[in-house]
Amino acid sequence: MRILIFPDRARAVQAAVIRVVRQVQDKPEATLGLATGGTMEDVYRGLIDLHRQGAVSFARASSFNLDEYIGIPASHPQSYGFYMRERLFSQVDFAAGATRLPDGASADPAAAAEAYEAEIARLGPIDLQLLGLGQNGHIGFNEPSSSLSSRTRVKTLTASTVEANSRFFAPGEAQPMRAITMGIATILDARRLLLLATGEAKAEATAQLIEGAVSAMWPCTALQMHRDVTVILDEAAAGLLKMRDYYGWVAEQEGAMHIGLAAG
Ligand code: F6R
Repeated sequence: MRILIFPDRARAVQAAVIRVVRQVQDKPEATLGLATGGTMEDVYRGLIDLHRQGAVSFARASSFNLDEYIGIPASHPQSYGFYMRERLFSQVDFAAGATRLPDGASADPAAAAEAYEAEIARLGPIDLQLLGLGQNGHIGFNEPSSSLSSRTRVKTLTASTVEANSRFFAPGEAQPMRAITMGIATILDARRLLLLATGEAKAEATAQLIEGAVSAMWPCTALQMHRDVTVILDEAAAGLLKMRDYYGWVAEQEGAMHIGLAAG
């Protein structure tokens, strides 16, 4: 696990953006795994900026999103399909049909989840999976107690996740309680994982992710089992790490903090 701790959120976000861009520069036909949520909004702004500057084209790339709510149509402003169209897809140059999310509006969500898993198996593996981190340690919508060998399926959200995401819904508006999410094993199938966590609210989950025992109660700890994981943090998210100084020292020795973009 490569752990990179930046002084502030802006620099952490920029480091994540650069790594996504580098992936697509190195392999223009890359399959990206994408996430939603507040943390990713700035990442997508960064990707759009670099795309507009001509640094990256997604024309040959494709993507799979981690998850989608069940029971709201793709046209709903809080659906992840809407989020992705607004915040990324409509502003960069992915080819039509190259971006995919689970079909949360399906009449048969379990079948839709199975079909999504099969599609990832057919078109994957995902080259780079972008991940945020839930305060309760979820990745995708794999809530605490999720099987570490889970595949894409229907999950009922925990009360704490519903509460954390209620800020995106209008007061009194019906909020989905279930989602289709890639499973933990599905996520671990990606060639590389890139997790970004910022802010003090993520400090406990971050400490578990890096230093906790592997456990279904902290689904993010499953990342310890993957061979190519980069965790990008700001100081606030890194606040509870016992070996924080060591991670800084390692990153410095390896020159891992200052990766730039390829010229041209
Ligand atoms: C969303 C997703 C979630 C979020 C996580 C953090 O696609 O997979 O795991 O990454 O809930 O969300 P924010 O960034 O809003 O704190």
